[in-house]
Amino acid sequence: MELSGARVLVAGATGVIGHGITRELTARGARTALAGRDAARLVTVADATGPDTPRRVFDAYDLDGCAALAPWAAERLGGLDAVVCAVGAVAFGPADTLLDAHAEHLVTVNLLAPAALLRAALPLLPEGGAVLALTGVVATSPQPGMADYSASKAALAAWLTAARAEQRRRRVRVVEARLGHLDTGLVDRAVAGTPPPLPPGGDPDRAVAAVADALTGDAELVRPAPGGPGCVLQRRAR
Ligand SMILES: NC(=O)c1ccc[n+]([C@@H]2O[C@H](COP(=O)([O-])OP(=O)(O)OC[C@H]3O[C@@H](n4cnc5c(N)ncnc54)[C@H](OP(=O)(O)O)[C@@H]3O)[C@@H](O)[C@H]2O)c1
Repeated sequence: MELSGARVLVAGATGVIGHGITRELTARGARTALAGRDAARLVTVADATGPDTPRRVFDAYDLDGCAALAPWAAERLGGLDAVVCAVGAVAFGPADTLLDAHAEHLVTVNLLAPAALLRAALPLLPEGGAVLALTGVVATSPQPGMADYSASKAALAAWLTAARAEQRRRRVRVVEARLGHLDTGLVDRAVAGTPPPLPPGGDPDRAVAAVADALTGDAELVRPAPGGPGCVLQRRAR
C-alpha cells in the first residue's frame, strides 16, 4: 500500500502510540480519521493532524460503537484503505489476586473491542488494504504479574492469526504489531496494581515508524529487533 493518499482509521489515536502513528501516517501523506475515548484529547490530536480531520469518540465497552467506526471513517474519507487499532489497557498483580472485574476489563478493551472494530472493517477494505492491531510480547511470553493482560493479548494475537488466513485470498493483510515494553507511561495508567520491576522502556518513535513501514509493505508481524533497539518486520507471522 502506498501511504501517500491512503485513507486510514486510527482507533486509540489519543494514546501515546496511537498519536505517534497518526503523526507518522500524516507525515507520510495519509489521510486519517481518528477515534478515541477522551473527547478533549481527541480534539487536540485531530486539530494537530489537520483542521478537517474526522474525529469520533468511542468507548471499548460499546462494541456496537466499535463496529460503527470503520463505516463512519469510510463515509468521511470516501473509502478506507487501512485500519490501525492502538487501543489497550493493562493491569498488574498475581493471577490469584486480580479481580474478575479487572480481568473482564482487559478482555473487553484488549480483545472484544479490537475484534468488533476489525470485524466490521475487513469487508470494507479493498484488495491491498490492511488492518493492524497492537498486541505485545506478552502474547507469546506471558509474564508473572500480568496473567490476564498476557492472556488478553494472546487472545487478540490468535484472532489476528485466524483472520489473516481468511483474508489472504482477498489480499487484505492482517498485521500484528507484537511490541516490547516501550516508554509510553502505559504501566503507570494500569487499571489495577503496580508494575513489577521493568527494564527501561524502548523508544516509542521507533515502534511507530515500524508500524507505518508495516502498512506499506508485505509484513504480517512487527516485533522487537533481537538484542537491539527498534523493531523488525516479518513477512510471515509466526
Ligand atoms: N507501552 C508499551 O510498553 C506497550 C508494549 C506493547 C504493546 N502495547 C500496546 O500498545 C497500545 C497502546 O499503548 P500505549 O503505550 O500507547 O498506552 P496509552 O497511551 O495508554 O494508549 C492506550 C489507548 O487505549 C485507549 N483506551 C483505553 N481504554 C479504553 C476504552 N475503554 N475505550 C476506548 N479506548 C480506550 C486509550 O484511550 P484514552 O486516551 O482515553 O486513555 C488510549 O488511546 C496498547 O494496546 C498496549 O497494550 C504497549
